[in-house]
Order: sequence, then structure tokens, then C-alpha cells
Amino acid sequence: MLKWLSRVLSTRLVREPELAELAEWEASNTLGARWGLDQITEEYLLQSSQILVAEDASSLLGYAVVRSFPDGVELFNILVPKHARRRGVGTALMQAIHERVEGQAVWLEVRAGNESAQRFYEGLGYEQIGVRSRYYRDGEDAVLMSREPAMD
Ligand SMILES: CC(C)(COP(=O)(O)OP(=O)(O)OC[C@H]1O[C@@H](n2cnc3c(N)ncnc32)[C@H](O)[C@@H]1OP(=O)(O)O)[C@@H](O)C(=O)NCCC(=O)NCCS
Repeated sequence: MLKWLSRVLSTRLVREPELAELAEWEASNTLGARWGLDQITEEYLLQSSQILVAEDASSLLGYAVVRSFPDGVELFNILVPKHARRRGVGTALMQAIHERVEGQAVWLEVRAGNESAQRFYEGLGYEQIGVRSRYYRDGEDAVLMSREPAMD
């Protein structure tokens, strides 16, 4: 499938009326964080968090949530709805994050079974730095990954 041209795919901070659409994507998603509208709204209202969306001329195509800490930035969530995957949307979101947090380390947790996301992060320069055993409520392990600022 063709990748979107970079000139038609852009990223920006989300606007409050758009949060419900992000929650709808989450409701039909089986991988990832599976956030509800409450959690997305909570994150939106938090000063230390940023929610970025990717869009083309007609619609939103994905979103990512990062939270700042004194020693770097944690990627809390990223989701591209199924119909928009493998076209560079996730990469565009991550590149936008890397630009915004330039000079800082970024880390994240991903389900051990979510191998597609792990391949995605590896392609962006993330390395596995550890495993948290039975981290998720359902007993699945979390893989910890990070990207050092020198990658910029
Ligand atoms: C992970 C996710 C955000 C990737 O978004 P995307 O827009 O499809 O990613 P991109 O098109 O930018 O992919 C870039 C590269 O990542 C790798 N990649 C992405 N999806 C992959 C998959 N399913 N299997 C293997 N590699 C994959 C590939 O190398 C891909 O490049 P290619 O398409 O040229 O082969 C998306 O699959 C998603 O929303 N998944 C469900 C939610 C989730 O798991 N979030 C992560 C929680 S930690």
C-alpha cells in the first residue's frame, strides 16, 4: 500500500472535542493500552502530558501521549486505527515527539506479546532495557524500551 506523502500527513496537539474519537478507536482496539475517554481526558488535562494527533486533509489518523518527568519523557500510549496502519502514521507521530523532546531520553512499556509494536519501536531506535514480570493486570510481562537523546 502507498505511504502518505509527508506534505499531506501532519501532526499537532489534540483539541478537546477530538478526545471522544480517540476513545472510539481505543474501544475497537485489541492491542495497546485500551484507554477509555476518562483516562484520555485525565491525560489531556495534565500539564505534564501532551497528546499529539496525526491527520491528513480529511481526518485524524492516530494519536500518541507523552508525559514529562525530570529525567526524560515516557511514551504512555500510541494508537493508529487499523485502517491507517503501515502507512507511516505511527512513525510521523514518534518523529514529532522526538522533535518536541529533543535532547531527552524517551522510554516506554509494551506488552511482551505485542511484537508488532516492539518491531515498530526498534525501527525508531528504541532498545530493550528490561522486563517487568507480570506487570499487567492479566499477568502479561512488560518489556521496557528506551531511546537515548544521542539518537537525535
Ligand atoms: C504500533 C503502531 C502505533 C504502529 O503504527 P503504524 O502507523 O502502523 O506504523 P508505521 O506505518 O509508521 O510503521 C513503521 C515501521 O514499523 C514496523 N511495523 C509497524 N507495524 C508492524 C507490524 N504489525 N509488524 C511488524 N513490523 C511493524 C515496520 O518496520 C514499519 O515499516 P514498514 O511498514 O515500512 O515495514 C500501530 O500498529 C498500532 O496502533 N498498534 C496498536 C496499538 C499498540 O500496540 N500501541 C503500542 C502500545 S505500547
